[in-house]
Amino acid sequence: MINEIKKATKYLVEKGFESPEIGIILGTGLGQLLDHVKIIKEVSYNHIPYFPTATVEFHKGKLIYGILEGKKVIVMQGRFHLYEGYTLQDVTFPVRIMNALGINTLLVSNAAGAINLNFKKGELMLIDDHINLQGSSPLAFKGVSQLGERFADMSAPYNLELNEKFSEIADKHGISLHKGVYASVVGPQLETRAEYRMLNIIGADAVGMSTVPEVIVANHLNLRVAAVSVLTDECDPNNLKPVNIDEIIAMAMKAEPEMITLFKELIKTL
Ligand code: HPA
Repeated sequence: MINEIKKATKYLVEKGFESPEIGIILGTGLGQLLDHVKIIKEVSYNHIPYFPTATVEFHKGKLIYGILEGKKVIVMQGRFHLYEGYTLQDVTFPVRIMNALGINTLLVSNAAGAINLNFKKGELMLIDDHINLQGSSPLAFKGVSQLGERFADMSAPYNLELNEKFSEIADKHGISLHKGVYASVVGPQLETRAEYRMLNIIGADAVGMSTVPEVIVANHLNLRVAAVSVLTDECDPNNLKPVNIDEIIAMAMKAEPEMITLFKELIKTL
């Protein structure tokens, strides 16, 4: 993997992706953050050597370099999911590239279902901890120890200082920001009632199909990480209605202005 990382990084440096400080992974419902970025360069994923190529229609698949709140940022417009048929190493390859380019902080957003029924759809949840239910690890490969500590520490995968700042910003702007545990499943099917019950029992507050692999790799690389979920549906096993992916996306978009405020205000302080 080392050679692939070198080649992809060299390509991006030559394209002008110069010493970025912050990496941002835009999940469903944060796309409009790009309206606030002064874009300097953008490259389609399929032009970057060894990058996986984007498949799901509503993800455009571009790596963007620019300035946001005075900081040099790299933004992933569209991410890779295990459910699209990629490996966990593919899914997390962009994090390794952003790290090689020089970021020290990774900010992540996603859409998730609310397992904690005190949380309502349309609200936001700061991820405090996670449960990996994707059946494997992005660190489970032969050359991993050449890239970092194989037995990566996960005692605090989400940076406490960044999370405190997020909470303060939310308070200041009147944004209701819950805090909780995000469980990542493979998907792409939504969960059964029995699975939602199980997720509740094991301590998840929200469930989604992304983020955990990227966060594991970011910790492997000693990056500071923070992540926010937009809760798009309420996963009540005793009153479960069929979910509709269009509704999930619409709900994610509704919360977008609040998500944008959180991200912009946090970046201002970094
Ligand atoms: N389950 C899994 N992933 C999701 C959900 C859900 O209920 N909502 C949004 N992403």
